[in-house]
This record gives sequence, C-alpha cells and structure tokens, in this order.
Amino acid sequence: MITKGVFPKSRMRRMRRDDFSRRLMREHTLTADDLIYPVFVLEGSGRTEAVASMPGVERMSLDRLLPVAEKALKLGVPALALFPVVDSGRKTQGAEEAWNPAGLVPTVVARLKQEFPELGVITDVALDPYTSHGQDGLIDPADPRGYVMNDETLEALAKQALCHARAGADVVAPSDMMDGRIGRIRATLDAEKLIHTRILAYSAKYASAFYGPFRDAVGSAGNLGKGNKYTYQMDPANTDEALREVALDIDEGADMVMVKPGMPYLDIVRRVKDEFGVPTYAYQVSGEYAMLKAAAQNGWLAHDAVMMEALLSFKRAGCDGILTYFALEAATLLKS
Ligand code: PBG
Repeated sequence: MITKGVFPKSRMRRMRRDDFSRRLMREHTLTADDLIYPVFVLEGSGRTEAVASMPGVERMSLDRLLPVAEKALKLGVPALALFPVVDSGRKTQGAEEAWNPAGLVPTVVARLKQEFPELGVITDVALDPYTSHGQDGLIDPADPRGYVMNDETLEALAKQALCHARAGADVVAPSDMMDGRIGRIRATLDAEKLIHTRILAYSAKYASAFYGPFRDAVGSAGNLGKGNKYTYQMDPANTDEALREVALDIDEGADMVMVKPGMPYLDIVRRVKDEFGVPTYAYQVSGEYAMLKAAAQNGWLAHDAVMMEALLSFKRAGCDGILTYFALEAATLLKS
C-alpha cells in the first residue's frame, strides 16, 4: 500500500530516464585513442593465415599488413603492437634471431615507420618466438627442470630491444617478466642515444591459461609443450606482488605499465592506477577475445554490445589504453 506523502528521497532513475541526461552523467567513454591493435606478422610475402582459435584474426606478411596499418591509422587507432611468427628453422636454444637486424621484426618496423610515420609501432621484447623451447628467456642447460636464467636473459633482451629501437620502434614492450629488465633496457637504449624510445612494461603479467590462442597464433605452443612459465610470470592468486612489480618498473624507467590478462584482472588495474597514477594499460588477451567471439558466433551474446561493454570496463577500472584484438572493429563502430 502506498502511503500518501511518503516518497523516495532520491530517485536514481530520474537521471536515467532520457538519453540526454544519461549522456550528461556518463563518467567514462571509450574512444579510438584508447586502442592498441596487436598483429601477428609472418615472414615472406603474399601470406595470410587465419588463426582458428581467434576468429577474425589473421597472421600476415608485411605486404598484407600495410593496408591493415593504413586502416588503423585512418580509424584513429594510435598504435600497432607487433608479434612475429618465426619459421621453426630459425628458432634456437639461444634465440639469436631475436636481435638479427635483418630479421622479421626490424624489417616490418622500418617499413611501417617509412609508410606511416604517424602510426605508433610497439614491439614485443621476449624470446619465446625465437627459442626452440618456447620459453621467454634462456634456459640453464645444466638444470634438469630447464630453469630460465635471469641475468643471462637480460643481456639477450637488451640486444633485442636495441635492435627494435634502431629499426625505428617507437615503443619497446618487454613481456618476459625477468627481474631488472626495464633498467637494463633503458640503460642500453640511453647509451646508444635512443632516449625517445618509450618502454611499455608488462609489469604485472600473470601465468595465465588465457594465453592459449596466442601461443597457437605465434606457434610457440608446440615448442613449450607441457612446460609452463610459473618461475617468472605471476601467480594469479596475488595482488600485492603486482604493486611491487609496478613500483620496480617505474623506478627502473618504465614510461607505461601494463596488467595482463585484462578482464579477469581489472582489480589489479584499479589498484595500480590508484597507487601510482602512471599511464596504465591492460591487455585483453587472446583467450578473452576467443571467449567473446565464440559466444557471439553461437548467437549466445550480442557481439558489438559485449565488445563495447568489455572495452568500457577497462576504462572504468582505470586504464589509459587497451591492447585488444577488437581494436579495428571497435574503432569502426565508434566512427559510425
Ligand atoms: C609472450 C607473450 C604472450 C602474450 C603476449 N606476449 C604469451 C605468453 O606469455 O605465453 C599473450 C597475448 C595473448 O594471449 O593475447 N612473451
């Protein structure tokens, strides 16, 4: 029974009633400026290969990548993140191909910067595309468990980052989780007067099962086999440790920090942003993309709506930008 004169003091629904007032009170928005598009590059030319576990994603050779880069630029996406698919014959124990100045990544970087100087180019610094064992670092041959050696790996990562920066990479993004790599890479770049090359640190990168489709895409899954990355990537159970990782990376000279994966780790993003207030990013990884695509393909979720809602959740959590395989689709939708 409604008692006369007794009304809700606050009516939250009042502002939700019309589109204009909903828009006026909206706290967060997603724009193309927030998006970074990860791409898988192949050696050779005229090659495009679908990635079965990532519908809509293709590995492609440089000539096929150029029109995609142009499209990203036209849509207002600020940067691409390159991930190489290296022919198995070039993978070694020591990952020497990772700093070959005539290798795939430096070649692609140089060409992209020549064609589209305004488009940011981010490179992945880690050895897994180049190692015959699929680990992100160098393994100790004397250790039966194949422990990934920290300080020996730093040397290799510094060479790799320098090779990318010399080719013109705007941002190098170490995704390896070795201790001290940010400081080591910064010092190496600075000593070569590459003071403008930015570092995007994968600071809080978890040992996640959501990377599965990516490892298929770059062909490192087979090399890694039953191996795992627990001795360097973080335990999904931890949060304080992520803050320590971020603090170290900022102290060592990171310009941007990242949390990875994205959606299951938005609590970490929020803590990082609140604690440090630095440019903060998250990677909506391959498995997250695969989940949403699969559900949409089955007609179980509305594709565009869940894509935009998921991307907005990153902004709400405090991200300044999102690495996402949805970047071009989202930017296209934002434009229309
Ligand atoms: C490896 C790397 C991985 C991803 C980016 N760089 C996988 C891994 O750590 O095994 C995952 C990205 C994704 O799943 O989309 N250095």
